[in-house]
Amino acid sequence: MAETQRKETILSGMQPSGALHIGNFEGALANWVRLQNDYWMFCCIVDWHALTGSWRDTRAIKDQIFLMAVDWLAAGLDPEKCAIFIQSDVKEHAELHLLFSMLITVPTLTRLPTYQEKKDSLDSYGFLGYPVLQAADICLYAANKVPVGKDQEKHIWLAADLAKRFNATYKKTLVEPEALFTEVPVMPGNDNRKMSKSYDNHIPIEYTDKQTEKRVKSYFTDPKKLRQGDPGNPDTCPVFLLHKVYSDNPEAEVAPDCRSGALGCVDCKLKLSARLNERLRPIRDRRAELVKRPDDVWDILQVGAGRARTRAESVMDKVRSAMKINYRKKKK
Ligand code: TRP
Ligand code: SF4
Repeated sequence: MAETQRKETILSGMQPSGALHIGNFEGALANWVRLQNDYWMFCCIVDWHALTGSWRDTRAIKDQIFLMAVDWLAAGLDPEKCAIFIQSDVKEHAELHLLFSMLITVPTLTRLPTYQEKKDSLDSYGFLGYPVLQAADICLYAANKVPVGKDQEKHIWLAADLAKRFNATYKKTLVEPEALFTEVPVMPGNDNRKMSKSYDNHIPIEYTDKQTEKRVKSYFTDPKKLRQGDPGNPDTCPVFLLHKVYSDNPEAEVAPDCRSGALGCVDCKLKLSARLNERLRPIRDRRAELVKRPDDVWDILQVGAGRARTRAESVMDKVRSAMKINYRKKKK
């Protein structure tokens, strides 16, 4: 589709955390896959952001980029519809970050909850500037919308504020972005906490059917329901939350039998893992194909970077003009 046919631009970003799990998929990626049909979309693997945490030992980052790109593609992000690229392939992110850093005070950054939470372990200049780099990621593409979770609300607000500040200081140049919040299902891990690789309670997309079944069997359930026949409460059970995402009519097909005791937890979990495996099968098949062709995946990222750069260069050209720092630009 030609760029002009799509009215609005989306920039979405994710830190390269390696192979994804179903929580990442249902929480963000499935939404991106839907959005790529209606927006001009840039999907950025933010490797420089990842360095704020892993700057000392960077050995894993390349594999993490690769595996995440594979899962993005397997999940249905289409390189024909959106530019899929690595942040550090487009150096303009760093340039706009630097220019933005003049427009924001240090206390504004130190007050942010994301900084406060981690400042004792991460107190580098780079970490302080994390949201400024994120603002640059967004404004560099003149993105109107940024699909994020609620935890990122302040960062998007800050990006809009920086765009506004830039426009007021120099000349109206940048688009003020907005967060695009979407309903995402609650995705609990097997310990009933939020699903996360760092808790090792997750279900990776790359799992086999058997591994998935084993993980599902290990899930926490209603502790009062010890054996089949005991009545259970699906409303407090993480397995039921996943049924809500993966089964067609869980309120009718799972909940009453759980409450009455007719359904035992073992069968309930088998039912869930069967549904989950069915849903993930096409993604897993595509994934298995993609990992066999690593060069094609790196090529897709390079082509994506080329497309991203075209947009980024044109925005930066306007930014430099607005600031009167495009010293050698020919007069038109
Ligand atoms: N901070 C985001 C997160 O932790 C990642 C991110 C970096 C991002 N740059 C972005 C998200 C730009 C959206 C847009 O999830
Ligand atoms: Fe949870 Fe299913 Fe057991 Fe009910 S039957 S407690 S929903 S695992």
